[in-house]
Amino acid sequence: MRKLVIAISMLAFAGSAAYADPIKDRQALMKERGKIAGQLSKVVKGEEDFDAAAVLTTLKALQANAEKFDADTLFPAGSDKGDTTAAPKIWEDMAGFKSTEDKFLADAKATVASPPADVDALKAQLNTLGGDCGTCHQTYRIKKS
Ligand code: HEC
Repeated sequence: MRKLVIAISMLAFAGSAAYADPIKDRQALMKERGKIAGQLSKVVKGEEDFDAAAVLTTLKALQANAEKFDADTLFPAGSDKGDTTAAPKIWEDMAGFKSTEDKFLADAKATVASPPADVDALKAQLNTLGGDCGTCHQTYRIKKS
């Protein structure tokens, strides 16, 4: 039964162009995440003015990005091979990996629920979010030289 379910889900997988390549898909999602975080960090660094409405839009984009993260689809078994920096640890500890992303999603949601009123507040929120990126990357990503 389990095998059948897997076979069916693999067929569904193959049939979906959007998820033809989980490595590319998750890297695209992470690239987008990096871009969004970069926009926020420009404001924190003073390279861009703090505009509460614009910042909230960006935070919403970050939350939407986090909501698109589906570990089962993006990190299927066997996708540790290839042009990827995903560490084997992900598949050794999938529950831990998922809960690391869940924390990120919860923190992203919290920023949208309680948007920053000034740069200092944004800075504190970005520190938390950036800490989440670092925690996950340190544990679940390998550095390629
Ligand atoms: C739950 C874990 C997790 C969290 C949280 C996380 N990342 Fe990642 N990130 C990964 C993994 C795993 C990869 C490697 C993907 C691969 O190469 O297959 C990655 C790769 C990346 C990449 C490289 C993408 C590429 O083109 O290869 C960027 C950029 C990135 N992350 C940015 C961020 C930023 C910015 C944050 C926080 C705002 C963040 N990530 C949060 C797990 C995470």
